[in-house]
Amino acid sequence: MRGIVFYQTEELRGRHVRIFDTTLRDGEQTAGVSLSLEQKLLIAAQLDKLGVDIIEAGFPIASAGEKEAVSEIVRLGLNLQVCGLSRVIQADIDACLDCGVGMVHTFVSTSDVQRIHTIGKSREEVVELAVDAVEYIKDHGATCMFSSMDATRTDMDYLTTIHQAVEQAGCDVINVPDTVGVMVPSAMHRLIKEIRETVAVPLDVHCHNDYGLAVANSTAAVEAGASQVQVTINGLGERAGNASLAETVMILHTIYGAQTNIHTEYLLETSRMVEQYAGVRVSRLMPIVGENAFAHESGIHTHGVLKCTDTFEPGVMTPEMVGHKRRIVLGKHAGKHAVQQAIESVGFAVSDDQLAEVLSRIKELGDKGKPVTDADLYAITESIIGVVARKEQFIDLKEVSVMTGNLITPTAAVKACVGGAVKVVANTGVGPVDAALGAVQNLLGEGTMVRLHDFKLEAISGGSDALAEVTIAVEDETGKIVNARAAREDIVMASVEALVNAINRLIMVRGTNKRNR
Ligand code: KIV
Ligand code: ZN
Repeated sequence: MRGIVFYQTEELRGRHVRIFDTTLRDGEQTAGVSLSLEQKLLIAAQLDKLGVDIIEAGFPIASAGEKEAVSEIVRLGLNLQVCGLSRVIQADIDACLDCGVGMVHTFVSTSDVQRIHTIGKSREEVVELAVDAVEYIKDHGATCMFSSMDATRTDMDYLTTIHQAVEQAGCDVINVPDTVGVMVPSAMHRLIKEIRETVAVPLDVHCHNDYGLAVANSTAAVEAGASQVQVTINGLGERAGNASLAETVMILHTIYGAQTNIHTEYLLETSRMVEQYAGVRVSRLMPIVGENAFAHESGIHTHGVLKCTDTFEPGVMTPEMVGHKRRIVLGKHAGKHAVQQAIESVGFAVSDDQLAEVLSRIKELGDKGKPVTDADLYAITESIIGVVARKEQFIDLKEVSVMTGNLITPTAAVKACVGGAVKVVANTGVGPVDAALGAVQNLLGEGTMVRLHDFKLEAISGGSDALAEVTIAVEDETGKIVNARAAREDIVMASVEALVNAINRLIMVRGTNKRNR
């Protein structure tokens, strides 16, 4: 970092932290999320590529499907260690062992509130069950992690008693769950420090995000001596989720200077995969992996970033480190440097006066609450510099027809002139828009890597004849993203036109950039 003062603790510099990912267990407990076997296998393989040390592959006793998934994940023979979850019940542990996992994570409620109202056992009975479970796991040759569920609302003397008992029984790791996410970082630091003074086994933490502090509590626990953290991709998990893997790891690496085995360049790719399979949209504001994590709009910021990226970014963390891209976004806060760069990137050269006019039109659009798409920038610039003749469009749309209803699979047919040749393509989808968009993508033929990156639909006025405005972003294989918009009373037509506009723009920008090289 050039000339940046950075006030951070040096305590963790060089320390190694193990990453335990529970996306496939606590993450799948996110309300409304259910992953297929195939998706679980693909996620497990991706977590292995990412460099996760251990995954909690599931809770085998929960269902036959869950047991099959854990067994199949074990069968993949990945480098990471596969762990199964069990209560302190022999049948649960047997279900894990049947799957062939190398590690069993056994848990029991230790707080009075959970112990009394959920399992109805005395404190002594709970200790006995925990010790028996640990001994049983160890007797069967597996690594054992014990969790005192709701540890952060458990009486400290009792927590010490049960932790020392399971340590004595041979447990390899003790996990301290902040089950309902009530800790703050200073309290977490104190608690972990105190637990460290009572047991010698490695400590792990599992923090929930009820107050948005899961990541901060996890890193505070590491500061206090925990050597392993439980995380999930995109922070999935019960209620408000668990600590996000990407945030926890990037804080550990770039702020504390600690080490993990994570290959951070795969963070975005992993986040997108889990977003798609889980169906839980990642907020554009989400740190590290959100759409806006490295996007700049304001004139002051973009001017600074165009000169030196450290001015308005952390400096120690770059988009490249996490597989992301820096974006300069045009809107009402845009400055002339950003607009000039955007204009040049689509192959135009403008005078100072023309630049000022483009800027003022962009601000007008921004003031009306409209995002400025690449197609808008192109059209505005073209009209100002007086280029009248439109370039030939790569896709020239001729006809669109859709069929939908409760008795047929939604189907769309699209006819267009593509690169000079007339093509007709039909496609099915979950609805008419999905079918039509798929048909347009199929027009490009096999091997053309243009993927739909974003789709936004807005009704501009009320009523069933409302004008539908669709904004679509497409991405090519190099990660170049181009967006375009179309408004129509017919949602299918608005969607198809927006997609065709975006693809045409992407192809034009690629051509322009190649010519300029
Ligand atoms: O939140 C929790 O306490 C858990 C346990 C099973 C560790 O998920
Ligand atoms: Zn949990």
